[in-house]
Amino acid sequence: MARFSGKSIIVTGAGSGIGRAAALLFASEGGSVIVADLADTVHETAAMIDAAGGTARAIQIDAGFEADVIRAVNVACESYGGLDVMFANAGISGGMANIFDTDVALITEVLRVNLIGPYLAIKHAAPKIAERGGGAIVLTASVAGIRSGAGSPAYSASKAGVINLAMVSAQQLSGSNVRVNAICPGLTETGMTKPTFDYAREAGKMEKVGRLNPLRRGAQPEELAKVAAFLASDDASYVNGQAIAVDGGLSSSHPVTRQEYGKTAV
Ligand SMILES: NC(=O)c1ccc[n+]([C@@H]2O[C@H](COP(=O)([O-])OP(=O)(O)OC[C@H]3O[C@@H](n4cnc5c(N)ncnc54)[C@H](O)[C@@H]3O)[C@@H](O)[C@H]2O)c1
Repeated sequence: MARFSGKSIIVTGAGSGIGRAAALLFASEGGSVIVADLADTVHETAAMIDAAGGTARAIQIDAGFEADVIRAVNVACESYGGLDVMFANAGISGGMANIFDTDVALITEVLRVNLIGPYLAIKHAAPKIAERGGGAIVLTASVAGIRSGAGSPAYSASKAGVINLAMVSAQQLSGSNVRVNAICPGLTETGMTKPTFDYAREAGKMEKVGRLNPLRRGAQPEELAKVAAFLASDDASYVNGQAIAVDGGLSSSHPVTRQEYGKTAV
């Protein structure tokens, strides 16, 4: 039996990158998916799922706006009879402004989308998921939320908040059988990072992308989608309140000179 057969699933940020890859994967494994995004590219995602023989419905929402999140949950319940999985994945980078170049408007917007969005997703999805006897909420955080060095102060703080939100909400949902976990992607080739990957490709410097992690490459969105799907599925039935780094090993070390495979340590 497919892992998501009979499951009703919402994916935010499904118009591109990790969200689109996850929506395609959920649908390919039998899930009925509400693909939600601010951008109209979300209709392409639904069409891709449709073409592959899956079930999807596209809605355009602002994932950081409460009435829109409520609407997405209602659409899922009306379309598919309830809700089993919420993948709160929509996010923005907000650019690379340092602390002094970040104004209050910028940090407010980054926190609104990246942190308040997942908070609203939990608040409105969890009761519906609990009504079905349980299920899963997966949040997209980032390696930037684990420690410094992978994003602006606003972005990093927002993602650190997402990691904590997974822990706190897993605790506060005690007894509901609703699990909450987060994924922490490292550098992944998506709409958000397109300029980095495009520049490296054009300059013939792809070997430099992701070179700081021991796998020495960036990720493809499907590699993140697989982990999100694992956490959303019953395969992860005893994984709760965790933030799983999916970063090629980047966050497993302090910045030190690495010992090379096959070479003697000096
Ligand atoms: N790409 C990376 O290297 C990387 C690394 C760590 C974390 N992440 C996180 O992964 C998640 C997915 O991003 P991605 O890398 O796939 O980038 P992406 O830009 O390809 O996709 C993000 C999607 O979110 C949508 N979105 C933005 N604001 C929204 C809003 N207010 N409401 C609804 N939708 C909105 C965008 O339209 C876009 O379709 C984000 O939370 C991002 O912070 C990405």
